[in-house]
This record gives sequence, C-alpha cells and structure tokens, in this order.
Amino acid sequence: ALHRASNVHWQHLDVDKLSRARNKGQVPRCIWFTGLSGAGKSTIANLLERRLCALGYHTYLLDGDNLRHGLNRDLGFTPEARVENVRRVAEVANLMVDAGLIVIACVISPFRSEREFARNLFDEGEFLEVFVDTPLEECERRDPKGLYRRARAGEISNFTGIDSPYEAPLQPQVHLRTDRMQLEAAVDELMAHLLPSSSD
Ligand code: PPS
Repeated sequence: ALHRASNVHWQHLDVDKLSRARNKGQVPRCIWFTGLSGAGKSTIANLLERRLCALGYHTYLLDGDNLRHGLNRDLGFTPEARVENVRRVAEVANLMVDAGLIVIACVISPFRSEREFARNLFDEGEFLEVFVDTPLEECERRDPKGLYRRARAGEISNFTGIDSPYEAPLQPQVHLRTDRMQLEAAVDELMAHLLPSSSD
C-alpha cells in the first residue's frame, strides 16, 4: 500500500501485521459493505460479526452511522463530505487490519472511485467488497428511519438514491440480493468466502 505525504518519512516498525495477526491465530481482512440506506448493511454485518466472534475471531465493526457521531461528526452528505467520510473509514479499517483484526466496514460508500481507493490501501486478497443489493423501492418501502419519506418531502437533501447518486459495484466479490434471500443465507455465503475450509 502506498502512503505519501510531503516531508514526512515512513517509519519502519519491527512488528508487522502478520506477526500481530499470528498471535491471534487469524488472517486479517477488511470486509467492506456497500449499498443504499436501508439495504440491510448493518443488519447483515452485525450477524456476520456475531458469527465470527462466536468462533473466537477478533473483529471490529465500523458502522457509518455510528462513526458520524464521533470521528466523522464534522461531515455531512455532500459528495465532497462523503468522499472524506469514506476515506477516513478506509484508513481506519486499514489501521485495524494492520493491528491484525478482521474488520467489517459498513458505509453506503456510493462512489466507485472511493471504494477503489479503499481497496487499494490493502494488500492483495485482504479486501472483500460486499454489495448489499436491495432495490431502491424496497429500501423506500422499509424506510426504517423514516429518512426516505423526509427526503421525498424535501426535508433532507443529498439523499442517496433520491437526489444523490449511488454507483453500484460492477464486480463485487459477494453480491447479496436481499430481496431474494434470507438473512441467514446471506451470512452463510459470507462465511463461506471468509472461511472456505470450515464447515460452519
Ligand atoms: S456515506 O455515503 O458512505 O458517506 O454514508 P454513511 O456514512 O454510510 O452514512 C449513511 C447513514 O446516514 C444516514 N443519512 C443519510 N444517508 C444518505 N443520504 C443522506 N442524505 C443521509 N442523511 C442521513 C442514514 O441513516 C444512513 O444510514 P444507513 O445505515 O446506510 O441506513
């Protein structure tokens, strides 16, 4: 991964990612969930983390909504703010992977270029893009937080899928059609990607 900043050198550290992860007996990874608001990203990510945690893996879930209360509290939803939001989540995920963890990132991340930026921070095979593909009509029908209704009423602007774009992944590693599958089946499919040899 490339790290560039002017007049700042890269300090070599003796203990590296693999040594940290070896002590935990796991392969560090970033599992990146993208999809519309209300698509089910957080629900599936939570179930996945529960499953991994129960098997003894050291995980962490970076949830966009939650991070916007702290680290990203200065950011709104203009395209520029989303670019910065996703950049920060990607960088934090990368630090956590460097710490040896299995990181689940859960952000709309509507732009292909920013998801590509995220992928490029990681080593080969470390980054898994998961498209939680729920049609806009279905997200809007669910409207768990009432945000679509408010966006349609003009009370919220720059809302993803309404007046802000969502660029669907062209080749996600995992494509979950949540309108056609059960939640547990979605988590099973993810587990099969992560632990191909395990029967779990
Ligand atoms: S992004 O696009 O990746 O920067 O967004 P993210 O950090 O994941 O935040 C999305 C959550 O913020 C709430 N919210 C909005 N979403 C989209 N557009 C607008 N304008 C907006 N305003 C608030 C919404 O609850 C999103 O949560 P999820 O979990 O995706 O439904």
